[in-house]
Amino acid sequence: MRRLILLFRSNWISALGAVVTTLAFMGFVTTWIYLSLHGASHGPYLGMFAFIGLPMVFVAGLLLIPVGLLVYRNQLRQRMDLLTRKPFRLVRFILLLTLINVAVAGTAGYEAVHFMDSQQFCGSLCHEVMSPTYDTYIDSPHARVRCVECHIGPGASGFVKAKVSGLLRVAAVLFDTSRRPIPTPVHDMAPTEDTCEQCHWPERYVEDRLVVRQHFADDEAVSASTNVLLMRVGGTRSDGSASGIHWHAQPGSVVSYISTDDSRTKIPWVKLTDAAGKERIFTIEDVDPKGPPPPGQLRTMNCVDCHNQPSHRFQDRGQALDEGIASGVISRRLPFVRKVGMEALELGWTRENAKAGIRQHLDRFYAGNGSLPPDVQALIGPASDAIAEIWMRNIHPAMNITWGTYRDLDGHDGCMRCHDGEHLDADGESITADCEACHATLAEKESDPDVLKRFGIGGR
Ligand code: HEC
Ligand code: HEC
Ligand code: HEC
Ligand code: HEC
Ligand code: HEC
Repeated sequence: MRRLILLFRSNWISALGAVVTTLAFMGFVTTWIYLSLHGASHGPYLGMFAFIGLPMVFVAGLLLIPVGLLVYRNQLRQRMDLLTRKPFRLVRFILLLTLINVAVAGTAGYEAVHFMDSQQFCGSLCHEVMSPTYDTYIDSPHARVRCVECHIGPGASGFVKAKVSGLLRVAAVLFDTSRRPIPTPVHDMAPTEDTCEQCHWPERYVEDRLVVRQHFADDEAVSASTNVLLMRVGGTRSDGSASGIHWHAQPGSVVSYISTDDSRTKIPWVKLTDAAGKERIFTIEDVDPKGPPPPGQLRTMNCVDCHNQPSHRFQDRGQALDEGIASGVISRRLPFVRKVGMEALELGWTRENAKAGIRQHLDRFYAGNGSLPPDVQALIGPASDAIAEIWMRNIHPAMNITWGTYRDLDGHDGCMRCHDGEHLDADGESITADCEACHATLAEKESDPDVLKRFGIGGR
């Protein structure tokens, strides 16, 4: 031991290295024990410090030791005879130390990898940049699915690639060069066979699914207008034939398309390749289906071309209010509540003053709107809170995220990028635009659809 200390003390660089390594080691062990005891309640910064910061310091310290010995090798030679008198003990000691080092580095590496996979690392470390995404994620059907399960997928090559680009992104945030808003579509998304299809079976046949969409008007009575659809989700049957919306997800036929804008909403050229390899090309009016494909980005359709917001769903202003009114948190007994809500959501609040400002806006509106009975007056508070929550969820001025920044493509409008009846093949036949191919419309814009009463869910 004394000899080893002599070796470390032979020059200041090695000495510094030994001290730094020891301190980092002790720091790592203490924080590791602390984090193991305190579980998930700690913030992301402590994890970052323990699993990334300290191990880096530890390794840097270790590297300093040989560097010092190399730089001051003349002095070292003088001490060598001191040390070589009992060489084997020294070798044994160094071996033991190396073993401990490898164990520490291994544990740290393992913990670091786990930590980088956690929602905490991905979602809250770069708080301002990620918080809009994170806030919608924790309120989605996939709130318990780890970010990496959709964004990276299994396998080491994806892992390394994603870690590298992930770290570059962290660096971009630190140097404030990340783009605001974060642009979508995300171009380096892993193939969906490695992500979504690890949990969802693409061939699964889904029976028709009932969808009820309630809308409300800006009038005094907040009149209801309800659409009831039977979605033909479909899929692949046991005999291999496919139909319905998830015909798209069957393994046989492949749809690829060219988009001319970055958001993939302008699609002049679509190619269908069936299981036998036969191709059919559909184009918009001024593109020849028999000619060369127009310039643009070529892409093969997969799950996220429709489900682009399975986990980060930003809402449309009117749709969010409709959902709030339908669920009852925004009461229809408040006259004009949708109209005043739409106004309140459009004003230029900050994240600090939105809640109080929206409350004030509603109070002022209802003060000048005749006197409301006290029990209706009492509904202003909860309605105002719900409207403020809609604003907070969807609007993030620091990230330039406002209404319409992120658009959902798995609804009617997303399908109309191709199914608008204006994409024709060489025979003049269009991609199907038949309403019934996608959904049976059981009621359209009815205030209190009979069909819902028959299901026993009417009269809302
Ligand atoms: C269920 C799958 C899924 C999960 C879980 C998921 N994402 Fe995503 N994420 C997506 C898809 C799909 C897109 C959109 C891709 C596109 O439009 O091309 C996306 C887009 C994003 C974007 C771009 C901006 C935006 O808000 O749309 C960011 C940033 C992001 N995800 C981060 C995260 C983080 C951080 C987590 C974990 C807290 C996470 N994601 C969890 C599937 C997922
Ligand atoms: C780790 C497993 C897992 C992964 C990966 C995953 N999902 Fe899911 N997904 C689920 C589960 C579980 C549900 C059902 C959640 C519920 O009903 O609460 C679900 C629900 C859904 C739904 C129905 C949502 C709704 O509103 O009812 C859609 C659509 C969906 N997933 C699409 C995707 C897409 C697209 C991807 C890939 C980007 C993906 N999922 C990746 C597990 C997963
Ligand atoms: C052509 C667009 C499109 C593609 C491609 C697509 N989906 Fe869907 N999917 C839909 C629509 C539309 C619905 C019905 C949504 C609704 O109920 O409003 C749906 C429904 C679902 C549901 C809910 C089913 C249920 O039980 O109610 C899941 C889960 C899902 N999709 C997963 C996937 C996965 C995984 C993939 C990729 C293998 C995929 N989808 C590909 C459009 C698509
Ligand atoms: C990139 C273009 C594109 C988009 C976007 C798209 N589709 Fe398609 N879809 C096609 C093509 C091409 C076909 C095959 C030609 C046909 O059936 O007319 C098809 C076929 C279908 C079929 C008929 C399947 C059968 O039984 O033959 C349904 C249903 C369908 N799509 C639903 C949807 C829905 C719902 C959406 C939106 C959520 C959607 N599609 C989005 C290109 C697209
Ligand atoms: C290519 C598939 C497709 C075709 C064709 C199609 N739709 Fe849709 N439509 C959808 C999808 C997907 C939704 C979203 C369902 C949901 O909100 O979950 C939808 C929603 C709707 C809604 C409800 C909107 C809401 O938010 O209340 C109405 C109404 C509607 N469609 C009418 C029609 C009519 C009328 C036609 C024929 C002219 C038609 N659709 C053709 C796919 C299609």
